Amino acid sequence: MLPLAAPLRDALLAADFTYDRVSELLGEQAHGALSRNETRPGLRRTTAADVVGSPLATLTRLFLLQSAVSATDAERALPGLVDRLTTADVLAQSVGEVAARLDCRPYATDEGDLWVVSDLTPGLDGVPARPTGDYVLGISPASSSLARLTIRDDVESALDLGTGCGVQALHLATHSDRVVATDVNRRALAIARFNAHLNDVDDVIDVRDGSFFAPVAGERFDLIATNPPFVISPATGERLVYRDSGLPGDQVVEHIVRTAPEHLTEGGWCQVLANWVIDRDQPWDERLAGWLPDACDALVVQREVLDPPSYVELWLKDSGHHPATGGDPATYADRYDTWLSWLEQQGVAGVGFGWINLRHRPDVAPGARARTLIEWPYDVEQPIAPAIRDWATSAAVARAVDPTSRLVLRDDVLQETSGPVGAEDPAAIVLRQQRGFRRARQVDTVVAAVAGACDGELALGPLLDAVAELVGKDPGAVREVYLDEIADLVAEGFLTVV
Ligand SMILES: C[S@@+](CC[C@H](N)C(=O)[O-])C[C@H]1O[C@@H](n2cnc3c(N)ncnc32)[C@H](O)[C@@H]1O
Repeated sequence: MLPLAAPLRDALLAADFTYDRVSELLGEQAHGALSRNETRPGLRRTTAADVVGSPLATLTRLFLLQSAVSATDAERALPGLVDRLTTADVLAQSVGEVAARLDCRPYATDEGDLWVVSDLTPGLDGVPARPTGDYVLGISPASSSLARLTIRDDVESALDLGTGCGVQALHLATHSDRVVATDVNRRALAIARFNAHLNDVDDVIDVRDGSFFAPVAGERFDLIATNPPFVISPATGERLVYRDSGLPGDQVVEHIVRTAPEHLTEGGWCQVLANWVIDRDQPWDERLAGWLPDACDALVVQREVLDPPSYVELWLKDSGHHPATGGDPATYADRYDTWLSWLEQQGVAGVGFGWINLRHRPDVAPGARARTLIEWPYDVEQPIAPAIRDWATSAAVARAVDPTSRLVLRDDVLQETSGPVGAEDPAAIVLRQQRGFRRARQVDTVVAAVAGACDGELALGPLLDAVAELVGKDPGAVREVYLDEIADLVAEGFLTVV
């Protein structure tokens, strides 16, 4: 299959098969429908007289809309490649017609246009489809979420653990001298290798077979980005390797978090997209804090929580078991019961979804570690990666805030006040960041006045004294009460240290 990558790239380039051109071809409505897995508007659009039979329309019908195309159109779009791609199981031919057996889609990144081959998207137009055990996932909301989370600094080495079709590795190859991509699914490994060749980065991406960190024993990386198989299930029925690790509960995530420091260079980042158990008897952040390695600063963000029934429904639908998509009602009920009772037995109150970011800093004393575990389900600026990088700086400098520190208010912070109509003073003051995490913090008039006066000129101590005088409070008491709160504002990125 690999020798086909370069000629296929040439054909895709010649057809201008890029994300933008396909969006233009389909138009807003058909493109929107396709994002909901509906193909009818796109099929109508690609048979319009002005585009029908063009290589761009043919490739769009073939790969994105999963429609058979005529052999003549296929040959025009993929000159000299149809038979060879059929032999490689990328295409299938029947009398006079060609259909796709794999997905091949354009993918726009900030660094340029890519193409990603994967298994076909299941369930288009509501047609029942059940992924096989070795199904190779394409670009999913989860993979896009990790891509926006990943810090894109230039690095020497990066690891994509559980690469699947290789989408993270392709991103990493744009800013890493070398990338190792690992997986245990033979089909994923073959497709990831093909994608590396298709995008002409096979000299950068080294695809390796093996479980978790086994293929990189003894190696360290500047960046690890992973979207592991994190689904928390009773492991009954067939293992879907793209989502089931085979380890009980959320041990796959715990294992990655605990092991990461052995594979990170000093200052290196490990960024994990994850699900975790919310235990009936322990707060989620306390449980996760127990996993965090001594040698790392950590920012853990819980983005969403699902109760057990919602979680079970989500993943039974994902695997095509819901009767609405062709699943057998009795099997669905049976699996639902088994999964739910297993979660109950495990004491699972809910499942958290979020981001774990570790920064390897073995030089820092354990007592001085930056540890932020927050529940933040609100809309954030995307890509969020720069805000995560900023967190590392803020968290480190916040530890050193003292009365001599000179601080500056971040320029995107706005003050919101609310209270009874006509009242002289507001009942509540909230400082809200407009960018990054868009964090918000309720403050009192003293903190609001200090934050507003932070222009880097006056040191924090004298500034607190001046505000104390203004509001008629004892300066010594104000320093004592507010120094820590101001340090928190620095840690959360509202204020920066000059
Ligand atoms: C959720 S998919 C992520 C695919 C891709 N990286 C992405 O971001 O879309 C998880 C991947 O982990 C792989 N995987 C499953 N068990 C693994 C293991 N023990 N070690 C390494 N990879 C594994 C699966 O085959 C699958 O490709």
